Amino acid sequence: MTSKEVRAKFLEFYRKKEHAIIASASLVPENDPTTLFTSSGMQPLVPYLLGEKHPMGVRLANSQKSFRAEDIDDVGDNRHTTFFEMLGNWSLGDYFKKEQLPWVFEFLTDEVGIDPNKLYVTVFAGDKDAGVERDEESVKIWKELFKKKGIDAKDVELITEERGGELGMQGGRIFYYGAKKNWWSRSGVPMNMPVGEPGGPDSEIFYEFIHIEHNPKFGKYCHPNCDCGRFMEIGNSVFMEFQKQDDPPTGQAGGSFKKLPQINVDFGGGLERIVAASNDNPDIFEIDLIFDIIQAIKIVSCKNYEGADKVSMRIVADHVRSSVMMIADGVVPSNSERGYILRRFLRRAVRHADKLGMKEGALATFASLVAEKYKGVYDNINTNLIAIASEIQKEETRFRETLASGMKMFEKISKKDISGADAFVLFSSHGFPFEITAELAKEKGVKVDKKGFEEEFRKHQELSRAGSEKKFKGGLGGLSEIETKYHTATHLLNAALKKVLGEHVYQKGSNITVERLRFDFPNPAKVTDEEKKKVEDLVNQKIKEALPVSVEEMPLDKAREEGATGIFGEKYPDVVTVYTIGEKNNYFSKEICGGPHVKNTSELDHFKIAKEEAVAAGVRRIKAVLE
Ligand code: SER
Repeated sequence: MTSKEVRAKFLEFYRKKEHAIIASASLVPENDPTTLFTSSGMQPLVPYLLGEKHPMGVRLANSQKSFRAEDIDDVGDNRHTTFFEMLGNWSLGDYFKKEQLPWVFEFLTDEVGIDPNKLYVTVFAGDKDAGVERDEESVKIWKELFKKKGIDAKDVELITEERGGELGMQGGRIFYYGAKKNWWSRSGVPMNMPVGEPGGPDSEIFYEFIHIEHNPKFGKYCHPNCDCGRFMEIGNSVFMEFQKQDDPPTGQAGGSFKKLPQINVDFGGGLERIVAASNDNPDIFEIDLIFDIIQAIKIVSCKNYEGADKVSMRIVADHVRSSVMMIADGVVPSNSERGYILRRFLRRAVRHADKLGMKEGALATFASLVAEKYKGVYDNINTNLIAIASEIQKEETRFRETLASGMKMFEKISKKDISGADAFVLFSSHGFPFEITAELAKEKGVKVDKKGFEEEFRKHQELSRAGSEKKFKGGLGGLSEIETKYHTATHLLNAALKKVLGEHVYQKGSNITVERLRFDFPNPAKVTDEEKKKVEDLVNQKIKEALPVSVEEMPLDKAREEGATGIFGEKYPDVVTVYTIGEKNNYFSKEICGGPHVKNTSELDHFKIAKEEAVAAGVRRIKAVLE
């Protein structure tokens, strides 16, 4: 089956089950300070999993672009990619286990046609510390489902991940694992979850490639969570029913769990992996979405897809694909945050392209191979194709300028273990991200002093910070003053929208430059001219009223009690800063916010909405100026 078919079948399957199909959010998350990239379909939905009403209803499904930079070291094997699409369906306080598990099973076996004999499932073994019971309800459902396919599914008593390798399959089809494997939250196991974070037990589905022999390097016996490659996870149903509490005595690990006000399902399945399973081919790089790039690399490099070259080809294909997706969503190579992740990916792709003997220029041409695959799915790749190819080309040219000299230096210094100082010179003078040096060293069988490198890096940062403080003193005052005004205008706008459109409005995203503010919020329909006028008038009236803006620190609970609004899904500390516009007992706006803000609304200029548009289904964006 092709990825287009599987994606379309999934969305159609859930559409028939009364799910609204929502658009994929951008890879660059709005309002989620916890992560740089969208890495699962649930991330943009956190406010709704916590109880906020979603404008499209209580049943949602989509295919979400996802990126996990932390998987970079695994790329090269047959099943890890850093970019992937996550097929997702959600119940927001609607259906639960007895609908979810049969549906996902039906989809995989009857729609995609996967042989149920090759499917294995895992369930949560329970966790005493978290006070959550083991998931026998799911086991019962799974048994029934397999039975209907003529399979007698035995559940295997408690296999911890560590003991899996000792105990093996034991003739089982349903396996209990602990929280490390079968509990899902954005921050992992129950212990690591911050107060307020939602999470819950999950049930994962694995596909067995029966031709792959177990590799004892990964444990004596094989089991579904073994990393040898015989089993591949293809889907995960999270029963998101708990929320971490702040009940003393907390400590880092403390906090019990309480049921969320609504009990949710969060399913995510890797599209690429489901396609690989449907073809019974364990090499994810051979599915239609990626294999064209591999074929192109083979032609350009005149090499075969085998041995060490195979690993380099997979790295090039994966990193180019991820880079195309990042650039399409607005990331450009730079030296900080997202931009630096993109830079690292492109430079590593260049390094492996070079290793394969490919000349400069090929990587940029692969962008069109990626774009072609997503026509009608993510059209921002095709519409931005030239700009995307040009960013890739520019970065390749930039890195190629120092790649040869860096390789020469590497040859010299790698006669013995590499010092932190030398690795830092490769970084600062030859543009080698640390991981490239580490990878080259590994290939050569020498060590690199990572700690020493980090030490050098820190010293260098301190020096340049001292330099830039001098340079900018006084220079930026004017700019930040304008931005401060826009901050306060954003609070006024948020409150005015709530008054004019209704209480469903909240800040979904916000961005401020010296020229304008940008504000995203949920609303089922376009904001009419009349409503826009009302909002503008209300904000301007509040500016005219010269309301005081006061700031106060208080415990989070108290802030919530007092009605302060905040950003849903945001993780707040125990003590928060609250800005109030207006009199304390008769305020116009009260928000949890880090500031800064003006002292009085009279400092703002005339407020005007410059643009109102849709950014996603049910999400509107306003750009406004002070003039
Ligand atoms: N959030 C879960 C995951 O990422 C299921 O969508 O696995």
